[in-house]
Amino acid sequence: MLSYRHSFHAGNFADVLKHTVATSIINYMLKKDKPLCYLDTHSGCGAYSLQSTEALKTKEFNNGIVQLWGRDELPAPVASYLEQVIEFNAQSKLEFYPGSPSIARQMLREMDRLFLFELHPNEFTNMRENFSGDRQIKMANSDGLQGLVANMPPKERRGFILIDPSYEVKTEYQEVVDTLIQAHKRFATGTYALWYPVVNRHTIDQMERELLQSGIRNIQLFELGIEADSAEKGMTSSGMIVINPPWTLQKEMQESLPFLAQTLGQNGEGFYRIETLVAE
Ligand SMILES: C[S@@+](CC[C@H](N)C(=O)[O-])C[C@H]1O[C@@H](n2cnc3c(N)ncnc32)[C@H](O)[C@@H]1O
Repeated sequence: MLSYRHSFHAGNFADVLKHTVATSIINYMLKKDKPLCYLDTHSGCGAYSLQSTEALKTKEFNNGIVQLWGRDELPAPVASYLEQVIEFNAQSKLEFYPGSPSIARQMLREMDRLFLFELHPNEFTNMRENFSGDRQIKMANSDGLQGLVANMPPKERRGFILIDPSYEVKTEYQEVVDTLIQAHKRFATGTYALWYPVVNRHTIDQMERELLQSGIRNIQLFELGIEADSAEKGMTSSGMIVINPPWTLQKEMQESLPFLAQTLGQNGEGFYRIETLVAE
């Protein structure tokens, strides 16, 4: 039974990290005049009102997108991400937050394709309404991890895959690693970004170890924490593990993450990690 709803969390510090990294990757991949396939294994519904009961219940967006809104002099990759959020809001006021599929949709060109998977029936219905009639998008109300493996390699032979599970079940940490290994066997040149939350640090250490031992090369990690690790407090940081990142990504995150850690960090405890887990 799926109970996670992204509407409670849209625009929080984890979305800022995730969508800044995703925007940087897409920006780079669009430089080449060749079709690109974007596949989102856990899409959510794609659009969130920050005035909804859910969003207002947690107000997580206050220590996320709200801290960037209206600010000048942002690091260029953060400014580029913010531009996507601005484009999603018809007014100059921040009212809506774009989910990952909407950010990708805004950025991609006519020649590109999107595959969106969402398992929850209501979220899927909302997503279908949000993107109805869009012929570049294929949507499926099914398991995104299975969908990923089944669709690799994409016919374009150029792909960005975002894996953004809700980790409601503990076995998901293992499943995502196993799926990445399978998908990578089928499509070794794809760019894969796996989002993870840090609730219990040892779970993420284990995930990193498994990826290190997987034989997959060229893996980088980008993490943004707002407080020191604490299992009692819930998620205090989150990260993106990127396989085959653009060569520009590490430099862009070096520009961005110190700023985000300082801006979103609580009580001076903000921190970041930028690491090459496996070299090329
Ligand atoms: C963290 S949210 C996605 C947020 C979205 N990627 C974004 O950045 O805007 C995770 C979503 O995955 C969905 N989900 C959970 N398990 C799934 C699965 N096995 N396959 C596809 N979707 C799943 C949940 O219903 C939820 O909407």
